[in-house]
This record gives sequence, structure tokens and C-alpha cells, in this order.
Amino acid sequence: MSVNKIADKNKVTVQIFRKMKEKGQKISMLTAYDYTMAKLVDQAGIDAILVGDSAGNVMAGYETTLSVTLDEIIYHAKSVKRAVKNALIVVDMPFGTCSGDPKDSLHNAIRIMRETGAEALKIEGGEELLPDIRKIIAAGIPVMGHLGLMPQSVHQYGGFGLRAKSEMEAQKLKNDAALLEEAGCFAVTLEKVPAALAEEIALSLRIPVIGIGAGSQVDGQVLVVHDMLGLNQEFLPKFVRKYAELGDTVKKAVNDYILDVKNSDFPSVSESYENPTKEVV
Ligand code: KIV
Repeated sequence: MSVNKIADKNKVTVQIFRKMKEKGQKISMLTAYDYTMAKLVDQAGIDAILVGDSAGNVMAGYETTLSVTLDEIIYHAKSVKRAVKNALIVVDMPFGTCSGDPKDSLHNAIRIMRETGAEALKIEGGEELLPDIRKIIAAGIPVMGHLGLMPQSVHQYGGFGLRAKSEMEAQKLKNDAALLEEAGCFAVTLEKVPAALAEEIALSLRIPVIGIGAGSQVDGQVLVVHDMLGLNQEFLPKFVRKYAELGDTVKKAVNDYILDVKNSDFPSVSESYENPTKEVV
């Protein structure tokens, strides 16, 4: 499909997410954190953009997502919102902003929605966060759940390994997913869990399951855009497919520029304002 054809499509809403699952249409989702990238991703025809707290890793260089603040996610989400025409914009609630005090969580959720113009929030956590999630949904804010590997809880598990390996953990995951649907979440992200378990959960829910490291038999996929474009050249988990090597492209371009500057090959005459009466651009 051409970029123009895709760009003609209408605004994606949470209702469309649901319809896509009913029709068996897969949902595509990528992260974005800034105006320029969000514009490119939206124009390419993505269904949804996640302003993820992975911004902390790829934009700020934090070791974990725990350092991301409400103000930081709001800054990124506002930048994305200015760029996006069609994609559904989902924003992560950062660590500590939705963690067991429903009144406080609602206050934070309202701040993100009001200040950014985003259309939905994503919240890491299951049963223990149901009162917060219910309160936010009751205020009219669409919520996407996030289960499996929850990077904000990394210290509780001691790493970023595969989740739900034991029968007990798998049972809790299935239970949490069902409770999130019951609470009114419009979708749920499943991160780094066995593919067969993710498939079982996707089949058991009416709401879409968006996978990341959860196999192909779910209702959609999400990746961190810096990972799939090869801009992030640090360690990547095996579930990331690189669709480009933009890191190498950037380094090569910068290297060429440096050489041109050093050799006085840039700028050329045509890139200079030699005759101000003729040139205006
Ligand atoms: O913050 C993020 O990018 C995410 C995805 C990994 C799902 O939560």
C-alpha cells in the first residue's frame, strides 16, 4: 500500500480497536516521543502510537523506566499530539503515578489527558490496581492494561526475563487479564510471556491483546520505534525485529559531514549566499 493511501484513513479510536479485533484485523502500534518521529510514524499509517515510559531509556538514557516523571511524559505526549492526525495516542502512566491511591491516580490521569490531548492511558498492573483503574475509567478515560513483564516492577522480579513461566504465574496472568477486561479496559498489552499463553488469553478476551514478545497469535503488536529502526544499538531482546539500521545511517552521514567540513567541501558555492540580489532561499 502506498503511503498516501494509508494516510487517507480515518482517525483511530478505542472503538475502532475493538472493531478491528471483531473483524480479525491486526493492530499495529509503535512508540514515539517527539514531534518529528510521531509525524513520520503516523503518516506511514500506524494504528496507534504509544508515548511509552521507554522514553526514559531511549530519550533520556535512564537505566530503568522508574526515573520517568509525570512532567516528562506530559512533555513527550504534547509533542506527539501536535504531530499526529490519525493514530490513536496512548500515554503511559509513569512509575508511582498510579499505584494504589485511586484519588491520586485519577488526579494524575486527568493531568495527562488535560495537558496533552492524548486519547488513552496505559497502566502497568493487574488485580492490585483495579480500584485505581476503575476510577480512571469511570471518569471517561480509556485505559489499556499492561501485564506480563512490567518494567516498572523490575526490582520486584530482579530482571527483565520471561514472565509467567510457572503455572501459578500463568494463572495469575489469565486472571488479571480477565479482571482488566471486566473493569472496562479497552485493550491489554502483554509483554514477554510464552506465545501459547498469550494466544490463550487473546482468544478468551473480547478486547484486543497487543503483544510485545508474546508471539504472533495475539490481536496486534507494539515495538519501541528506536529498537525496530536500529537507532538503539545497545542490547536488544530477541523479540525485536530490526526493519532498518538507522543508527549506522546516522553515523555514516555525520562522518561524511565531518570530513566535508574538515576538507572545506561544505558548504559549496550553491549552498552559499554569494549574490544576495539573486538568491532568496
Ligand atoms: O514504554 C513502552 O515502550 C512500553 C512498551 C514496551 C509496551 O510499555
